[in-house]
Amino acid sequence: MFTLVAPDPSYHQSFLESHREWAGAHQDGAAVFMADDVTSPEGFAHWIGKLLDAENAPGKDGIVPCTFRWITEGSRYVGSIAFRHHLTPALLNSGGHIGYGIRPSDRGRGAASWALQELLAQLATKGKPGRVLLTCDDNNIASVKTIERCGGLLEDVRRDEDGHPFRRYWIDVGAVSARAGARTNTARTADAH
Ligand SMILES: CC(C)(COP(=O)(O)OP(=O)(O)OC[C@H]1O[C@@H](n2cnc3c(N)ncnc32)[C@H](O)[C@@H]1OP(=O)(O)O)[C@@H](O)C(=O)NCCC(=O)NCCS
Repeated sequence: MFTLVAPDPSYHQSFLESHREWAGAHQDGAAVFMADDVTSPEGFAHWIGKLLDAENAPGKDGIVPCTFRWITEGSRYVGSIAFRHHLTPALLNSGGHIGYGIRPSDRGRGAASWALQELLAQLATKGKPGRVLLTCDDNNIASVKTIERCGGLLEDVRRDEDGHPFRRYWIDVGAVSARAGARTNTARTADAH
């Protein structure tokens, strides 16, 4: 069973295994950069501190507050999902509200779909934002399917500065809440029989 947790030093060993699997590729939704020392326990704890502080970022110079949650399964680090609280013009064009990445050995198990659905359900309880923007490369089939499975409606396809097409999707957060309610009701009905 997957869970969303706040970044925590107890996942260090599992995170490092995942980090090796990514093999230097950009870890979407994880905010780990070349300059970050995630290997030593002290460096890992410091980096986690930065992730947690990002939630209360002052919101200037194009940086917006961002909540990071780790997708976990027991003591296993599976991936990361990031929710940016507001859109800047740059995020409205191409970054969107939400980014995510799943470690290679756990892909295709429903982790991203579950995490996105769970995050949307949590946002729905807060009542804002009413809708969220997600973007992905036009040829990222797994991400396209993840977004569409969670209710994403395609607004348009744009091109980045290198001319590569990317998709922009909106998800109505209230509709997610309604879908979750319908599922709960179905489950209750099933339980009753
Ligand atoms: C995109 C990504 C997050 C999907 O994570 P995941 O946990 O494997 O996705 P899920 O298992 O929830 O699958 C979601 C859908 O994608 C499909 N899918 C998963 N991997 C796929 C693949 N390699 N090729 C085609 N479809 C794939 C699944 O079948 C599922 O479709 P369905 O709803 O029709 O059944 C993951 O591949 C990843 O981390 N990629 C690298 C980083 C990245 O691209 N992040 C997103 C940036 S926008």
